[in-house]
This record gives sequence, C-alpha cells and structure tokens, in this order.
Amino acid sequence: MTSRVIPVVPFVLVVFGVTGDLARRKLIPAMFQRDVAGQLPGDATILGVSRGPLTEADYIAMARQAVLDHVPEAERSEADIERFVERLRYVSAQADSDAGWDHLAAVLKPFSDRVQVFYLATGPGLFAPICERLGRFGLAGANARVVVEKPIGKDLESARLVNEGVGKVFPEDRVYRIDHYLGKEAVQNLMALRFANGLFEPLWNAAHIDHVQITVAESLGVEGRAGYYDNAGALRDMVQNHILQLLCLVAMEPPARLKADAVRDEKLKVLRALKPVDDALSTHAVVRGQYRAGASAGGAVPGYLDELGADTSTTETFVALKAEIENWRWAGVPFYLRTGKRLAERVSEIVIAFRPIPHSVFDEQAGTIVANRLVIRLQPDEGVKLWLMTKDPGPGGMRLRQVPLDMSFATTFQVRNPDAYERLVLDVVRGDQTLFMRRDEVEAAWTWIDPILKAWSESGELPKPYTAGTWGPSAAIALIERDGRTWLDGGS
Ligand code: BG6
Repeated sequence: MTSRVIPVVPFVLVVFGVTGDLARRKLIPAMFQRDVAGQLPGDATILGVSRGPLTEADYIAMARQAVLDHVPEAERSEADIERFVERLRYVSAQADSDAGWDHLAAVLKPFSDRVQVFYLATGPGLFAPICERLGRFGLAGANARVVVEKPIGKDLESARLVNEGVGKVFPEDRVYRIDHYLGKEAVQNLMALRFANGLFEPLWNAAHIDHVQITVAESLGVEGRAGYYDNAGALRDMVQNHILQLLCLVAMEPPARLKADAVRDEKLKVLRALKPVDDALSTHAVVRGQYRAGASAGGAVPGYLDELGADTSTTETFVALKAEIENWRWAGVPFYLRTGKRLAERVSEIVIAFRPIPHSVFDEQAGTIVANRLVIRLQPDEGVKLWLMTKDPGPGGMRLRQVPLDMSFATTFQVRNPDAYERLVLDVVRGDQTLFMRRDEVEAAWTWIDPILKAWSESGELPKPYTAGTWGPSAAIALIERDGRTWLDGGS
C-alpha cells in the first residue's frame, strides 16, 4: 500500500542553526524524504543560516552527510541526493547582531511571494532576537511563519517572555510551536481511534476507565546533551510538553471539528483542569530519580554524574507522577505518567485500563479475569492493541486467557513510517496549526509544572538513585502499587 502524496505550495524553508543537531538529524533528512516522496514542488528551497563562516559547498557537504547518516540506505539513491542538494542555499548571519542580515534579506527578496518558513533550530534565548530582526529587516510579512522548538522557557515566567518576544513580530496564527510527539503517527491515530469509531467514546470516562498510564521510556542516557539536560531535567524536557500533550489528547472532549483552534481549545481545558500537585515532595504524588551506572542494551553504561562530569546534581533523569483531572469525565481516574532515560527498554505507550467486570460467572478453574486494556504504542513498532479475555482453545473446560486484538501499523499498512518532522514541517507550509501548541497551552502546562519545580528547588533534595537499565527508583513502583495498580512495563 502506498500513502497518498499531495504536493504543497512553493516555499522557502529558512533554518536558523542549520549546523546543529536538530537540523542534521531531523530537518534535513525529513525534507529529503519528502522530496523523494514527490511532495516538494520543483522550486522549493531550503536555506541554511548559521553564524559559522561556511561556504555553500560546505553546507551542501554537511547536508549530504546528514542524509547519508540518517536516511536508511534503501530509501536513498545518489540521484535523489543530487536532486535534493540542488534545493540548498546558505547564508551566514548572526542571531544576536545585525551581521549578515542585509545579505539574508537580499537573498530572500525573490522569495517574497512564496510561503516563507523561518525555523528557529536554536536555543530559546535566540528566539526573540531572531524574530526582532526578521521584523526589522522586512522578513516577517504576511507570507512568513515562524517555527520554534521546545524548550519554550524553563518556567512560566521565562516562557511568557519568549512568547512575548516572538509575539511582538508574529501574530499567533503565524507562530508554530513544535512538539514533535504530536507528529508521531500513533499519536494522530489516537484521534482517529477516538473520533472515527463509535465503539470507544461511550466508554471513555470515569464510569468505565479505571486509570490511564502514559510511559515514555528511553534506554539511552543523556549522550552529548548533558550541558542542556542538566538545566532541564525530565520534568521540563518531557513532561511539560510531550507527556502533557499526550494526556490532553486522551482526555480532551471531542472537538466540534478537527481544526486547529477547536482542538487546542479542548486541550487547554484539560490543562486547566489538572489538579495542582500540592505536595511535590511526597513520593505519593511525584517521584524523581537519577540513574547510576548499570547495564543497558547489553553493555555497561556510566551513571548520569559521570556523563555530566560532576560530583553532584539535583537534576532528575526520571520522573513518575500521578495526575488528576478535575472535571466531570475524569473525576477519580488517575493518570500515571512516567518518563526517564536509561530505563530497561525504549518504549512509549499509552494504556487505557478499563474497569474490571462487576461479577464473574466463571468458576475458579477459569483463572483470573483481567480487566480490558487498550494500548496505544507510539514506539517502537507503533500500533494499537485491545486486550480481551477469551477461552483457551480445546476441550478441558472453560479456561480463560487474555489475548490482544493486535493492529501493528507496520504489518497492517506496510508503508514506511514517516518521521514526525516530515509531517510537521509541511503542515507549517500548509498553514495548519492543529498539531502545534498555542501560546495559552504552553503557559497552562507551565502553570501546572511550576509549583513542582519550585518545591524541588527549595528542598534541595537529591533525586532517588536508580540503576541504569531498570524501570526507575522503587518509589515509582510504590507510587502506583499503593493504589492497588501496577505499571504495565513494555509488551503490554
Ligand atoms: C526530545 C527530548 O524532545 O525528545 C529528548 O529533548 C528526548 O531528551 C526526545 O530524547 C525523545 O524523542 P523520541 O521521538 O526519540 O521519543
């Protein structure tokens, strides 16, 4: 089966910070894949900007290498790469001074009647200065859109400052705050599952759902990003954005239409209904951890402090928490959230755990009747499983077993699973903000997160240690088991 490809309008994508990790690992390979798929119009241009004194030839060599490194061999040919690099241009300009901007403006002049996407793949401290210059150099006209990456601030106050700086130049309907989790195929499928099927919605509430688990577990450590990560930590890096966005998509009311503001209005209501975490220091509500040396993916791995090169750090590489949504639909249904680096495996999934049956008609030999679960797996092997009780085949009485109705997207659709950035960058070109965070959403998420961060920083307590390659500190297991429930680790 092939997926449908609808070409987008002519555009120029201007990537600030083009020599950085994000551009090399994600943006350039994503544009290459879309080019191969035939989705880019002939004259679509990708203009790299960085402070470095690169030549256009250096930039093209770097982009070529990015494609070789990050696009599987079977998905690229030399002819594809040759065609793709024809689209590339480079300009050197400073983000925090006017150096190079006249030249940038001159290079962009012929593109003024096209959609212009300014992708700020830089640190958040540069968002406002770049936007200010885009405005001053006449580059923020009606065809221009700006894309900003997380982290948007490090708390509510700094997020507001970033948003204000960007908002002085670009109106909200031309600001695209990217959360790449929203571009993942399985996440969009969550909306299809909920709103294109009649089956689930009547059950999608506290009367039928016992609890929800959202796990985003990584087996990697902080790798070369310890400098950034030590100022962020798992709560800011993953929960404030990706995990709360997933929670919103599970918990929101059906929007009247799948239009940007209709969806974002509903997500915002969820964020505003989150019960404040009163006691962030009690391990009944929140557990934070930091990995020590251990084993992962079959080999010995160092601890976080070794990777950071420091004797001590209060930064959490793991967090588990119990969130509650104070509204009619979800009252009394805990949402257990957890994420961490160097966990036992790389797995991201959402588990909707339904309530147990009210009464069993079977006798003891039938075995335990496990409550139904709907599992939406984001990665790896994306898909949906609905766990049901069935009879074990054959004679010998009624013995029950839980079996999944299993829809793995790879085997069902047999298409390459596109990376989230492929979808999201072209959504910007199309002018579709549905999968991007609106300013009030980002700020509402920080409003919920801030008191937790504050309590942690005031206490000065260290996160609980856990061995790399495990499922985090034992307190995280206690957090859910205290409620008579259990984490469904991987393979659920
Ligand atoms: C990023 C975080 O936003 O998401 C990283 O900054 C994390 O720390 C990454 O590793 C996870 O993304 P994915 O798509 O690999 O699950």
